[in-house]
Amino acid sequence: MSNGSTSRGEWGSKLGFILAAAGSAVGLGNIWKFPYITGHHGGGLFVIIYLICIALVGLPIMIGEVIVGRATQSSPVGAFKTIPGAAPVWQLVGWMGVLTGFIILSYYSVVAGWSMHYTWLSISGAFSGASPDQIASTFGGVVSSTGINLGWHVAFMVITVGIVVGGVSKGIENAAKILMPALMVLMLILFVDALFQKGFGQAFTFLFKPSPEKLSAAGVLEALGHSFFTLSLGMGAMLTYGSYLSKNTDVVSSSALVSIMDTGVALLACLILFPIIFTFGMAPEAGPGLVFKSIPIALSQMTGGRLLATLFFVLLFFAALSSGISLLEVVAATLIDQMKVKRSTAAIAMGAVITLFGVPSALSNVPGSIFGAGWMGGLFEKNFFDSFDWLASNVLLPLGGLLVAIFVGWAMPEQVRREEFSRGSRFASQYPFWLLFVRFVAPAGIIVLFLYSAGILKMIGLV
Ligand code: PHE
Repeated sequence: MSNGSTSRGEWGSKLGFILAAAGSAVGLGNIWKFPYITGHHGGGLFVIIYLICIALVGLPIMIGEVIVGRATQSSPVGAFKTIPGAAPVWQLVGWMGVLTGFIILSYYSVVAGWSMHYTWLSISGAFSGASPDQIASTFGGVVSSTGINLGWHVAFMVITVGIVVGGVSKGIENAAKILMPALMVLMLILFVDALFQKGFGQAFTFLFKPSPEKLSAAGVLEALGHSFFTLSLGMGAMLTYGSYLSKNTDVVSSSALVSIMDTGVALLACLILFPIIFTFGMAPEAGPGLVFKSIPIALSQMTGGRLLATLFFVLLFFAALSSGISLLEVVAATLIDQMKVKRSTAAIAMGAVITLFGVPSALSNVPGSIFGAGWMGGLFEKNFFDSFDWLASNVLLPLGGLLVAIFVGWAMPEQVRREEFSRGSRFASQYPFWLLFVRFVAPAGIIVLFLYSAGILKMIGLV
């Protein structure tokens, strides 16, 4: 494979790519966010709809992104430039992706920092013997502390930069080869423990028994929106990772495997969290505090809880790290490819700028902060952190996904598209189905999402 002459870098193996791409996909979105939105939307039916969104919209777009990356051997901006016959405006989609990666990493790193702080708290036994009120107020204390937020945010960014500086195969791939298996082992240990919890049966029913009365149109659309975030779609992460693939890797089966792993981890996270929540009679709809409050509260009352809590937060940190790496990689690779900057310079410079841009997010919950709710003199209702999370997850990623689907489905030359889909693939004969999905089903789904968010479906009385 790579003879060292390619300055861009290349995966050492197909497994390396799959682990790195799964590392990107599996993150805070799976372990922190998916359980609490599932809790909020009543489980069951929401989970089924989410699975449908992953299969019908997420997977086809993921295959499309990886194909564009592999065909052009370039990060997003260069990729849209290189495809023969593509109009120059498509480059804007590449730039939008880079901007999205930049924004997401700036606040993602703050939550990742909480997972590091919670690992430390668990190890040091801060939760053992603490009352539920004390633990709940610990979370409030963490999010409102300038020092804790900034310190861990910087620490997380430094580690992320260190790995991206190492390069595609030596840095990212090697990290994924350690982080992903470790994550699986940690999850299995926690899952086996959950199996013996009193609340397991109740959790299982909650998760898999459809209860239509609890699901709203908003829930359906949240499932769709989340499928972009969780699969790292719509901002060029999968495209960039695909660009380091050798020409004869089976893109279809690799993408399918990544989606299956991502979905598996999200479901497993629920099967770990909900049994604990139900056993201790807590509410599954606790919101963003589900992981940081309910879990330490429940585990503090259990024998071996200190060890389990430590394992859990290490797991969360590992998942966040492998995703953070992919976010920085998109931004750094663009600098490397477009401006011929050295990898180390690109990663360090961009890492520094993103760290700075993340400071307002880190301070968003600090009392009296100018980045709190109503920042910019009341122009924004939410705080800085939530405003950018909203912009990235609800606008930029679905829009990026829509544009990628249109590009791959309609603008990419048929010959290149068919060739890239089919080469080395056992699924070559499925090409017409896939094309149908990227051309019609995925764009239609995303357009409905936007119409709904803009309140237009309500206006015309459809929901
Ligand atoms: N997929 C990651 C998660 O679930 C987040 C992410 C989004 C990573 C977009 C890269 C690009 O947490």
